[in-house]
Amino acid sequence: MAQSEKIYLFGNWKMYLTPKESAALARSLSKTKLSKQVKMAVFPTALAIESVNKILKSTKIATGVQNVYWQEKGGFTGEVSASMSKEIGCKYVLVGHSERRHLFKESNSEVRQKMEAILNAKLTPVLCVGETLAERKEAAAEKVVEEQLRTALNGLNWPAGTELIIAYEPVWSIGTGVACDPAEAERMSALVEQIALRLFGAEARPLILYGGSVQPENAAEFLAQPHLRGVLVGGASANLKSWLGITKNLC
Ligand code: PGA
Repeated sequence: MAQSEKIYLFGNWKMYLTPKESAALARSLSKTKLSKQVKMAVFPTALAIESVNKILKSTKIATGVQNVYWQEKGGFTGEVSASMSKEIGCKYVLVGHSERRHLFKESNSEVRQKMEAILNAKLTPVLCVGETLAERKEAAAEKVVEEQLRTALNGLNWPAGTELIIAYEPVWSIGTGVACDPAEAERMSALVEQIALRLFGAEARPLILYGGSVQPENAAEFLAQPHLRGVLVGGASANLKSWLGITKNLC
């Protein structure tokens, strides 16, 4: 990563925190000073986004939603739409997170429909891709990631000025405490960048993040990789001490 480039520090709070706990963490974060080089965003539970947004309003920390449905409105019990997320002040949306793909059986084509809805709502998607352990063992990691990228991105009319953020998150390292070897994360990220460039051309400037068991002890190693522009952190972002441990030398 070049010195002048922004560093993306994104925290996915998943369903770890209640709305009250989310607001408390946001209040603590609102006191941290961010360096100009850092772009920070947090992804609280949808039930906490409005209150977290209010707390973070005068800071540079953005918020995102962890998931949206592709329809705008209607009889879709339990879902939230991209335009609703925009209305309450979100900037980003996680899409294709491995927990959505594997626990909730989201397919590549559903991820694609969500990508379109997110762009239509003028939000910025954070597209997550990554292989399972079985796929890695079968030497299919590259093929799986390529298919995920192609279905999500191919033929999309990318809006000028919207960041193309892709998180490489190997499924076997998410929430397991087993982070990917940074050199392997770099190799896969270079591949992700190459595929995105092939799909869009150089003007799209893909930004690749790594996610999967990022901790204060290993974050710097990932951020030092030439193709990695930041990290998408789950468990360690939902705890003030470990999040500050990850961000302390960067903010
Ligand atoms: P983890 O999750 O940091 O808890 O492994 C990463 C993610 O799900 O994005």
